[in-house]
Amino acid sequence: MSRQPGLISDDTAALVAGARWITVFSGAGMSAESGVATFRDAQTGLWARYDPEALSTPQAWESDPALVWGWYQWRAHLVRVAEPNAGHRALADLSTAGMRSDDGQEAGGGEARAVMVVTQNVDDLHERAGTPVVSHLHGSLFAPRCSACEHPYPRTEPSIPGPETFRIAVPRCQVCDALVRPGIVWFGEALPADAWNRAESAFRASDLILVVGTSGLVYPAASLPERAARADIPIIEINPESSLLTPIATHRIRAGAARALPALVEAITR
Ligand code: OAD
Repeated sequence: MSRQPGLISDDTAALVAGARWITVFSGAGMSAESGVATFRDAQTGLWARYDPEALSTPQAWESDPALVWGWYQWRAHLVRVAEPNAGHRALADLSTAGMRSDDGQEAGGGEARAVMVVTQNVDDLHERAGTPVVSHLHGSLFAPRCSACEHPYPRTEPSIPGPETFRIAVPRCQVCDALVRPGIVWFGEALPADAWNRAESAFRASDLILVVGTSGLVYPAASLPERAARADIPIIEINPESSLLTPIATHRIRAGAARALPALVEAITR
Protein backbone atom coordinates (compact mmCIF):
# COMPACT_ATOMS: atom_id res chain seq x y z
CA MET A 1 0.00 0.00 0.00
CA SER A 2 1.52 3.30 -1.00
CA ARG A 3 1.39 6.26 1.35
CA GLN A 4 -1.18 8.88 0.35
CA PRO A 5 0.30 12.27 1.16
CA GLY A 6 -2.04 14.71 2.82
CA LEU A 7 -4.91 12.34 3.48
CA ILE A 8 -4.05 11.61 7.11
CA SER A 9 -2.70 14.54 9.12
CA ASP A 10 0.06 13.95 11.68
CA ASP A 11 -2.40 15.03 14.36
CA THR A 12 -4.96 12.46 13.32
CA ALA A 13 -2.36 9.69 13.14
CA ALA A 14 -1.00 10.58 16.59
CA LEU A 15 -4.48 10.55 18.07
CA VAL A 16 -5.21 7.06 16.76
CA ALA A 17 -1.75 5.76 17.63
CA GLY A 18 -2.20 6.88 21.25
CA ALA A 19 -5.77 5.63 21.70
CA ARG A 20 -6.39 2.43 23.65
CA TRP A 21 -10.20 2.23 23.50
CA ILE A 22 -11.69 3.15 20.13
CA THR A 23 -15.36 2.99 19.25
CA VAL A 24 -16.08 2.82 15.52
CA PHE A 25 -19.56 4.18 14.78
CA SER A 26 -20.38 3.04 11.26
CA GLY A 27 -23.18 3.72 8.82
CA ALA A 28 -24.10 2.73 5.30
CA GLY A 29 -21.11 4.56 3.74
CA MET A 30 -18.87 1.94 5.38
CA SER A 31 -20.25 -0.69 3.01
CA ALA A 32 -20.77 1.53 -0.06
CA GLU A 33 -17.51 0.42 -1.69
CA SER A 34 -18.60 -3.20 -1.23
CA GLY A 35 -21.47 -2.36 -3.59
CA VAL A 36 -24.13 -2.18 -0.85
CA ALA A 37 -26.33 0.87 -1.43
CA THR A 38 -26.54 3.62 1.19
CA PHE A 39 -29.94 5.04 2.14
CA ARG A 40 -29.75 8.74 1.39
CA ASP A 41 -27.18 9.28 -1.35
CA ALA A 42 -28.88 10.97 -4.30
CA GLN A 43 -29.96 8.49 -7.02
CA THR A 44 -28.12 5.43 -5.65
CA GLY A 45 -29.52 5.53 -2.08
CA LEU A 46 -32.26 3.04 -1.22
CA TRP A 47 -34.60 5.79 -0.04
CA ALA A 48 -34.19 7.54 -3.42
CA ARG A 49 -35.56 4.40 -5.11
CA TYR A 50 -37.91 2.84 -2.56
CA ASP A 51 -40.47 4.26 -0.18
CA PRO A 52 -39.45 3.68 3.46
CA GLU A 53 -43.08 4.10 4.57
CA ALA A 54 -44.09 1.15 2.38
CA LEU A 55 -41.19 -1.11 3.38
CA SER A 56 -39.62 -0.18 6.66
CA THR A 57 -42.35 0.56 9.20
CA PRO A 58 -44.61 -1.59 11.41
CA GLN A 59 -47.56 -0.29 9.33
CA ALA A 60 -45.95 -1.56 6.12
CA TRP A 61 -45.51 -4.98 7.73
CA GLU A 62 -49.16 -5.02 8.88
CA SER A 63 -50.49 -4.15 5.47
CA ASP A 64 -48.20 -6.22 3.20
CA PRO A 65 -45.91 -8.69 5.02
CA ALA A 66 -44.99 -10.58 1.82
CA LEU A 67 -43.68 -7.36 0.24
CA VAL A 68 -41.70 -6.38 3.33
CA TRP A 69 -40.29 -9.89 3.82
CA GLY A 70 -39.32 -10.14 0.14
CA TRP A 71 -37.63 -6.73 0.12
CA TYR A 72 -35.43 -7.67 3.08
CA GLN A 73 -34.69 -11.10 1.56
CA TRP A 74 -33.55 -9.30 -1.60
CA ARG A 75 -31.31 -7.02 0.46
CA ALA A 76 -29.92 -10.03 2.36
CA HIS A 77 -29.11 -11.64 -0.98
CA LEU A 78 -27.25 -8.51 -2.18
CA VAL A 79 -25.17 -8.52 1.00
CA ARG A 80 -24.47 -12.26 0.73
CA VAL A 81 -22.91 -11.80 -2.69
CA ALA A 82 -20.94 -8.70 -1.59
CA GLU A 83 -17.48 -8.83 0.02
CA PRO A 84 -15.98 -6.75 2.84
CA ASN A 85 -13.96 -3.86 1.40
CA ALA A 86 -10.47 -2.60 2.27
CA GLY A 87 -11.99 -0.35 4.95
CA HIS A 88 -13.60 -3.28 6.79
CA ARG A 89 -10.32 -5.18 6.55
CA ALA A 90 -8.27 -2.24 7.83
CA LEU A 91 -10.47 -2.01 10.92
CA ALA A 92 -9.63 -5.64 11.66
CA ASP A 93 -5.94 -4.61 11.69
CA LEU A 94 -6.45 -1.50 13.80
CA SER A 95 -6.30 -3.25 17.16
CA THR A 96 -2.63 -4.20 16.70
CA ALA A 97 -1.42 -1.63 14.13
CA GLY A 98 1.70 0.15 15.34
CA MET A 99 1.62 -1.55 18.75
CA ARG A 100 5.04 -2.85 19.71
CA SER A 101 5.95 -5.23 22.48
CA ASP A 102 9.08 -4.77 24.67
CA ASP A 103 11.24 -6.67 22.19
CA GLY A 104 10.15 -4.33 19.37
CA GLN A 105 7.96 -6.90 17.63
CA GLU A 106 4.44 -6.11 16.41
CA ALA A 107 2.25 -6.69 19.46
CA GLY A 108 0.02 -9.67 19.97
CA GLY A 109 -3.37 -9.68 21.70
CA GLY A 110 -2.02 -8.74 25.13
CA GLU A 111 -1.07 -5.22 24.11
CA ALA A 112 -3.75 -4.62 21.53
CA ARG A 113 -5.97 -1.55 21.60
CA ALA A 114 -9.67 -2.28 21.91
CA VAL A 115 -11.65 -1.57 18.74
CA MET A 116 -15.38 -1.70 19.45
CA VAL A 117 -17.69 -1.53 16.45
CA VAL A 118 -21.12 -0.02 17.01
CA THR A 119 -22.89 -0.14 13.68
CA GLN A 120 -26.16 1.08 12.23
CA ASN A 121 -25.61 -1.36 9.38
CA VAL A 122 -27.69 -4.49 9.08
CA ASP A 123 -25.10 -6.31 6.95
CA ASP A 124 -22.40 -8.66 8.28
CA LEU A 125 -19.40 -7.21 6.47
CA HIS A 126 -17.53 -6.10 9.62
CA GLU A 127 -17.81 -9.63 11.01
CA ARG A 128 -16.76 -11.24 7.72
CA ALA A 129 -13.66 -9.01 7.67
CA GLY A 130 -12.71 -10.29 11.13
CA THR A 131 -14.04 -7.57 13.45
CA PRO A 132 -16.65 -8.67 15.96
CA VAL A 133 -19.51 -6.18 16.26
CA VAL A 134 -20.30 -4.96 19.78
CA SER A 135 -23.72 -3.65 18.78
CA HIS A 136 -25.95 -3.82 15.72
CA LEU A 137 -28.11 -0.85 16.71
CA HIS A 138 -30.61 -1.34 13.88
CA GLY A 139 -30.70 -5.13 13.87
CA SER A 140 -29.49 -7.58 11.24
CA LEU A 141 -30.62 -8.94 7.89
CA PHE A 142 -29.57 -12.34 9.18
CA ALA A 143 -31.51 -12.57 12.44
CA PRO A 144 -35.20 -13.02 11.57
CA ARG A 145 -37.49 -13.81 14.48
CA CYS A 146 -41.12 -14.59 15.22
CA SER A 147 -43.34 -11.51 15.04
CA ALA A 148 -45.34 -12.79 18.04
CA CYS A 149 -43.17 -14.85 20.42
CA GLU A 150 -39.77 -13.48 19.24
CA HIS A 151 -38.34 -16.98 18.84
CA PRO A 152 -35.33 -16.77 16.46
CA TYR A 153 -36.01 -18.25 13.06
CA PRO A 154 -33.24 -20.67 12.03
CA ARG A 155 -31.20 -19.49 9.07
CA THR A 156 -32.16 -21.26 5.93
CA GLU A 157 -31.18 -20.66 2.34
CA PRO A 158 -33.41 -17.76 1.42
CA SER A 159 -35.77 -17.55 -1.50
CA ILE A 160 -34.63 -14.63 -3.63
CA PRO A 161 -37.45 -12.47 -4.90
CA GLY A 162 -37.29 -10.63 -8.19
CA PRO A 163 -37.04 -6.86 -7.89
CA GLU A 164 -40.20 -6.54 -10.02
CA THR A 165 -42.57 -7.53 -7.22
CA PHE A 166 -40.39 -8.49 -4.24
CA ARG A 167 -43.33 -10.36 -2.71
CA ILE A 168 -42.58 -13.86 -1.44
CA ALA A 169 -44.28 -16.17 1.03
CA VAL A 170 -43.43 -15.34 4.64
CA PRO A 171 -42.32 -18.34 6.72
CA ARG A 172 -44.09 -19.22 9.97
CA CYS A 173 -42.65 -19.62 13.44
CA GLN A 174 -41.87 -23.21 14.36
CA VAL A 175 -43.03 -22.57 17.93
CA CYS A 176 -46.27 -20.59 17.63
CA ASP A 177 -47.04 -20.47 13.90
CA ALA A 178 -47.14 -16.66 13.71
CA LEU A 179 -45.37 -14.92 10.81
CA VAL A 180 -41.58 -14.59 10.94
CA ARG A 181 -40.40 -11.00 10.58
CA PRO A 182 -37.07 -9.47 9.54
CA GLY A 183 -34.73 -8.79 12.47
CA ILE A 184 -34.54 -5.11 11.55
CA VAL A 185 -35.47 -2.07 13.62
CA TRP A 186 -38.13 -0.26 11.61
CA PHE A 187 -38.92 3.46 11.73
CA GLY A 188 -41.03 4.10 14.81
CA GLU A 189 -39.69 1.09 16.73
CA ALA A 190 -37.47 1.22 19.81
CA LEU A 191 -33.88 0.01 19.50
CA PRO A 192 -33.21 -3.33 21.19
CA ALA A 193 -32.25 -2.55 24.82
CA ASP A 194 -29.25 -4.89 24.89
CA ALA A 195 -27.77 -3.44 21.68
CA TRP A 196 -28.33 0.09 23.01
CA ASN A 197 -26.74 -0.69 26.39
CA ARG A 198 -23.68 -2.29 24.80
CA ALA A 199 -23.29 0.72 22.49
CA GLU A 200 -23.55 3.18 25.36
CA SER A 201 -20.93 1.25 27.36
CA ALA A 202 -18.54 1.20 24.41
CA PHE A 203 -18.87 4.95 23.85
CA ARG A 204 -18.44 5.66 27.56
CA ALA A 205 -15.27 3.54 27.74
CA SER A 206 -13.66 5.15 24.69
CA ASP A 207 -10.82 7.61 24.42
CA LEU A 208 -11.49 8.08 20.67
CA ILE A 209 -14.52 7.76 18.37
CA LEU A 210 -14.25 7.02 14.63
CA VAL A 211 -17.44 8.02 12.83
CA VAL A 212 -17.46 6.28 9.45
CA GLY A 213 -19.95 6.75 6.61
CA THR A 214 -23.09 7.98 8.32
CA SER A 215 -25.33 10.96 7.64
CA GLY A 216 -26.01 11.30 11.39
CA LEU A 217 -29.68 11.82 10.64
CA VAL A 218 -31.21 8.93 12.53
CA TYR A 219 -31.85 9.07 16.27
CA PRO A 220 -31.26 7.85 18.87
CA ALA A 221 -28.14 6.38 17.18
CA ALA A 222 -26.73 9.82 16.31
CA SER A 223 -27.02 10.92 19.93
CA LEU A 224 -24.17 8.55 20.88
CA PRO A 225 -21.37 10.52 19.16
CA GLU A 226 -23.07 13.77 20.18
CA ARG A 227 -22.87 12.72 23.81
CA ALA A 228 -19.23 11.68 23.37
CA ALA A 229 -18.47 15.14 21.97
CA ARG A 230 -20.04 16.76 25.02
CA ALA A 231 -17.74 14.59 27.17
CA ASP A 232 -14.76 15.96 25.18
CA ILE A 233 -13.89 12.62 23.61
CA PRO A 234 -12.13 13.34 20.29
CA ILE A 235 -14.04 12.35 17.15
CA ILE A 236 -12.55 11.56 13.75
CA GLU A 237 -15.07 11.60 10.90
CA ILE A 238 -14.41 9.57 7.74
CA ASN A 239 -16.81 10.60 4.98
CA PRO A 240 -16.28 12.04 1.50
CA GLU A 241 -19.10 14.52 2.22
CA SER A 242 -20.15 16.67 5.13
CA SER A 243 -22.71 15.16 7.47
CA LEU A 244 -24.80 16.33 10.39
CA LEU A 245 -22.02 15.02 12.64
CA THR A 246 -19.28 17.04 10.88
CA PRO A 247 -19.65 19.99 13.30
CA ILE A 248 -18.78 17.80 16.30
CA ALA A 249 -15.80 16.11 14.62
CA THR A 250 -12.44 17.23 15.96
CA HIS A 251 -10.64 15.68 12.96
CA ARG A 252 -11.90 14.85 9.45
CA ILE A 253 -10.73 12.55 6.70
CA ARG A 254 -12.50 13.51 3.48
CA ALA A 255 -12.38 10.22 1.59
CA GLY A 256 -14.28 6.97 1.25
CA ALA A 257 -13.85 4.32 3.93
CA ALA A 258 -12.02 1.89 1.64
CA ARG A 259 -9.31 4.48 1.02
CA ALA A 260 -9.24 6.34 4.34
CA LEU A 261 -9.10 3.42 6.77
CA PRO A 262 -6.16 1.55 5.15
CA ALA A 263 -4.34 4.91 4.93
CA LEU A 264 -4.99 5.51 8.62
CA VAL A 265 -3.71 2.07 9.60
CA GLU A 266 -0.66 2.59 7.42
CA ALA A 267 0.01 6.00 8.95
CA ILE A 268 0.21 4.56 12.47
CA THR A 269 2.17 1.48 11.44
CA ARG A 270 5.25 3.22 10.02
P1 OAD B 1 -27.16 7.33 4.98
O1 OAD B 1 -27.49 6.83 3.62
O2 OAD B 1 -28.11 8.25 5.63
O3 OAD B 1 -25.75 8.08 4.93
C1 OAD B 1 -24.65 7.49 4.28
C2 OAD B 1 -23.43 8.36 4.53
O4 OAD B 1 -22.31 7.68 3.98
C3 OAD B 1 -23.48 9.75 3.87
O5 OAD B 1 -23.06 10.72 4.81
C4 OAD B 1 -22.48 9.62 2.72
O6 OAD B 1 -21.81 10.86 2.43
C5 OAD B 1 -21.50 8.62 3.28
N1 OAD B 1 -20.75 7.87 2.28
C6 OAD B 1 -21.07 7.54 1.01
N2 OAD B 1 -20.11 6.80 0.44
C7 OAD B 1 -19.14 6.65 1.37
C8 OAD B 1 -17.89 5.96 1.40
N3 OAD B 1 -17.44 5.27 0.36
N4 OAD B 1 -17.15 6.01 2.55
C9 OAD B 1 -17.60 6.69 3.64
N5 OAD B 1 -18.78 7.35 3.66
C10 OAD B 1 -19.54 7.33 2.55
O7 OAD B 1 -26.87 6.05 5.88
P2 OAD B 1 -26.84 5.91 7.47
O8 OAD B 1 -26.26 7.13 8.09
O9 OAD B 1 -26.23 4.61 7.79
O10 OAD B 1 -31.93 2.73 9.47
O11 OAD B 1 -28.38 5.86 7.80
C11 OAD B 1 -28.79 5.69 9.13
C12 OAD B 1 -30.01 4.79 9.18
O12 OAD B 1 -31.02 5.28 8.30
C13 OAD B 1 -29.76 3.37 8.67
O13 OAD B 1 -29.24 2.52 9.67
C14 OAD B 1 -31.14 2.94 8.29
C15 OAD B 1 -31.59 4.17 7.55
O14 OAD B 1 -32.96 4.35 7.43
C16 OAD B 1 -32.63 1.59 9.64
O15 OAD B 1 -32.60 0.68 8.85
C17 OAD B 1 -33.42 1.57 10.91
